[in-house]
Amino acid sequence: MNELAVVDLTDPGFWSNPYPVLAGARSRHPLARGVDGSLIALSFDAVEWVLRDPRFLTTDLLAPRGITEGPIAEWWGQVMFSANPPEHTRLRRLVSRAFTPRAVESLRPRVAQITEDSLDSFHGPTADLVAEFAHELPIRVMAAMLGVPSGDHHRFAAWTADLGLVFSSVHTPELLDRLEAAINGLNQYVAELIADRRAQPGDDMLSGLIAAEADGDALSEAELVAMVENLLFAGHDTTRSMLMIGAALLLSHPDQRALLSNDPSLAAQAVDEILRYEAPVLGSGRDAAEPFDLFGVPVAAGETVTTMSLAANRDPDAFDDPDRFDIRRPGGKLMSFGQGIHYCLGAALARLEGQVAFPMLLARFPGMELAAEPAWVPYASIRRFEQLIVTID
Ligand code: HEM
Repeated sequence: MNELAVVDLTDPGFWSNPYPVLAGARSRHPLARGVDGSLIALSFDAVEWVLRDPRFLTTDLLAPRGITEGPIAEWWGQVMFSANPPEHTRLRRLVSRAFTPRAVESLRPRVAQITEDSLDSFHGPTADLVAEFAHELPIRVMAAMLGVPSGDHHRFAAWTADLGLVFSSVHTPELLDRLEAAINGLNQYVAELIADRRAQPGDDMLSGLIAAEADGDALSEAELVAMVENLLFAGHDTTRSMLMIGAALLLSHPDQRALLSNDPSLAAQAVDEILRYEAPVLGSGRDAAEPFDLFGVPVAAGETVTTMSLAANRDPDAFDDPDRFDIRRPGGKLMSFGQGIHYCLGAALARLEGQVAFPMLLARFPGMELAAEPAWVPYASIRRFEQLIVTID
């Protein structure tokens, strides 16, 4: 086997076009190393292996940064992202009872209404699709899902947006203050929502979570609050990223845009291709529970391996012509929602949002054009542009 390549994630240039670097490294070996020597899984097979092998456990994002107590650590300790079996299995089983395909599908008319309201608010000769389209939609969908009254949307949206700060690659004191304020605010707010819903159950997902029960087990009050916050931060920045990236991809590929505009039944394939071609989430971290060899490379107990969806999604051994954006691909195969036991719980909801929103955006503004090539924000592991300015005909 060839020696592992080094992939430099500290280079801002990597973030503006990671694919040539990743392709070069992946052609040498399914794994590479970061500049700190840590392992990175690149090929589709290697990423799948790491995410499915039970010898890999979740990575603690906070302890290495000295955050071991207080509201942030307590909150993080209860979310599914950080849980391992058997605790993870228990939480996931209970939440899956509320997050059924039927419950997700029932949100379709609301998603269409929210999209329409957001498109109605475009007034200028130009618009910023990050602020005016991608940011609002996922928050409002989750507010609808949890039955948050519209008068509270503003507070709720601000807290939800701040939860994503936990994934920031640098945790400054100001940023931690904002994160803690969001957690404290949401802890109280969500507890009140739960109390209301206990008194008056509805047909929303929160009522479903409260009622969820399996083998005489149910979520405790603290787990319910943490679960709702888990859904909020897991579902916001990620879906926002998909919406801005998808809009940019469609507007910069006129042939693909025309295909989808002329045939909205391609929406499901188009969304999967958007997610494959530009994965919203860079990847995940896993820690080895014991020493073993991974694709011929020794891994020590406790060593972290980062999986890179971006590289897996463009692996020529897994996809024909992987660098071509083609919404007619069959769909279904992609690494953007992860794999294995932590596979994205909200994948169906995210797909639904894209399948509704992209065709509506194109139909409503057939003359919309990119005003400038959007710039990727460096070091954002949930990938994004600061702005996506378009002209509206
Ligand atoms: C395009 C949008 C989305 C993308 C790209 C995405 C991506 C991911 C990925 C890669 C994981 C696996 C993380 C890991 O293995 O460590 C994950 C897990 C998760 N996602 Fe999503 N997600 C999206 C939308 C959503 C939405 C809308 C929700 C809920 C409302 C959601 C809820 C979750 C939850 C709860 C988990 C943790 C599952 C577990 O640990 O068992 N996601 N997501």
